Amino acid sequence: MSLRVYALGFLVVTMGLGVIMRWEFVTGWLTGQGADFQNLRHAHSHAGYYGALTMAWWTVVRVDGLAPSSRAVHLYAACAAAATALFAVIGYRVPTIALSTLIALFWLHGGWRHLRAHLPPRWTDTAPWGLALGAVLVPFIGVTAPRDFALARDLAHLFIAILLFTVFIPAAWQGLGLPRRDPTWLHVVLAVGASAFLVFPHVVGPLGVMFPLAFASWCVLALGRGRLSPVMRLIWLSLPISVAVSAPIPALHAYPWRIAGIHLMVLGPVLCSLAQRVLPRPPHPVLAAAYLLLVVLMNASLVFPAVLPGVADTWVTAVLSTLLLGTAVLAVASVTLRFPWSPPPT
Ligand code: HEM
Repeated sequence: MSLRVYALGFLVVTMGLGVIMRWEFVTGWLTGQGADFQNLRHAHSHAGYYGALTMAWWTVVRVDGLAPSSRAVHLYAACAAAATALFAVIGYRVPTIALSTLIALFWLHGGWRHLRAHLPPRWTDTAPWGLALGAVLVPFIGVTAPRDFALARDLAHLFIAILLFTVFIPAAWQGLGLPRRDPTWLHVVLAVGASAFLVFPHVVGPLGVMFPLAFASWCVLALGRGRLSPVMRLIWLSLPISVAVSAPIPALHAYPWRIAGIHLMVLGPVLCSLAQRVLPRPPHPVLAAAYLLLVVLMNASLVFPAVLPGVADTWVTAVLSTLLLGTAVLAVASVTLRFPWSPPPT
């Protein structure tokens, strides 16, 4: 099986678990049967990061000969699938921590090979640094989790933001062919500073707001240099706008806004760009537009209760996320399966 198939498979599992969790907020059925919601959440977020996004990142670096061999990809996929299944059942325990360590070693090995490759400047150059920082954070999350759940969750969000800003967003930019001219360290410093401020604003201090604002400006510059279609440019503008608007407003650092922000970035610009590497051709424009509309509506419905109480409820998000999953599956199936009416692959 290829990286593309694994990326799509893990994406469907991630989205499927996400939809199950959304309906769980409405019905409470699974927790009533003894399931642990935190475990489901771990399974979901790890399937997304270990599986879908990592495989998609490798489809980009494969061009530079930096993806693992096909045997290593199968082994990695087996570890990621086992970790996802075990997270759902037992949460953070010795077997899932051991599998996660193995996965972190794969990541660090990939980062090490990248550093030694001495390639001309490219956006994926930031990945080794982000992965190393992420690997440093993992033991802190493990140690804090049993004692201080809120702090462990914040540290996990810092980890998620650092990987997003230094590994997966740069991979998406590289996949789109954006040129990189400025030093790697500048992107890493701004990305890590912005992540730290967005998750721990009171620790970083008031001047720390400069980091997200500088990172947002940096993103505008980077996106302005490439030849992107107007639609792709519009989709990517959601990144600097969300970062710059949320940075100075403490209310927008609260949990629902963070969850909406993560999902808007991952399901919107990141996956739409990486899809160009993963799918054999673009889906029908109507399906693509429906998908994007549902991404916006689903994430808006997460924060509506805070802004307009009574307008959106948990079931609205559950219905929208089910429609989103359906649209994504339809879009992928329409370009990957050989329907009798499908046009031949280009
Ligand atoms: C149909 C699509 C999706 C739905 C319905 C969905 C749903 C959810 C839900 C219900 C949560 C828990 C929120 C809470 O506790 O309030 C969550 C958390 C999360 N999701 Fe998703 N998700 C989707 C797609 C994705 C994708 C594609 C990724 C990444 C590749 C992802 C990454 C995450 C992360 C990192 C968290 C945070 C976990 C934490 O706070 O510890 N999700 N998602």
